[in-house]
Amino acid sequence: MLEVKKFNSIRQLPGISERTMTEHYKLYEGYVKKSNEIIEKLVNVDRESANQIFSDLRSLKVDLSFALGGVKNHEIYFGHLGGQGGRPSGPLMVQIEKDFGSFEAWSAELKSTGMAARGWVWLCFDRDLNRLINYLGDAQNTFPIWNAVPILALDVYEHAYFIDYGVKRADYMEAFLNNLDWSVVENDFNKTITTK
Ligand SMILES: [Fe+2]
Repeated sequence: MLEVKKFNSIRQLPGISERTMTEHYKLYEGYVKKSNEIIEKLVNVDRESANQIFSDLRSLKVDLSFALGGVKNHEIYFGHLGGQGGRPSGPLMVQIEKDFGSFEAWSAELKSTGMAARGWVWLCFDRDLNRLINYLGDAQNTFPIWNAVPILALDVYEHAYFIDYGVKRADYMEAFLNNLDWSVVENDFNKTITTK
């Protein structure tokens, strides 16, 4: 059973309204609820009728990837909001400068990727390439890359910003960066490079 996690510091964010975050959190709760429902249904699904065109097993498996992706993506997203923005320090900053040239070059690439995405941008440490990459996702379950660990997740679905910014996604992405808690991202990065 997946549990809904609490995120204490996501309701008072300069530039992202409490209304947006309250509604956004409800969507996350929905992903948790539906993940549990699918996992439960998979226990007794008819495996004999499995079929690639249509079958209950196929529908449940496809939608599990969407629902569980929605849980994990949002837990990263909410988990690193509530900070003061700025920039990272320590090994993460060193890695960003190594892979992108500078923090500014990285953030510019992140925001451009966010303009090009239909769902998510994930800053990942790709353990095979041994570098950071801003990966693009069009939905909860599209385009993740094996062995690339997401340490930062920028939600660019309209629900993340339309109440506050209308179509001005770029302004929302600035607000997102201004509310990032880099210590959370740094911790996840450190875990990623010290465990395999
Ligand atoms: Fe979202």
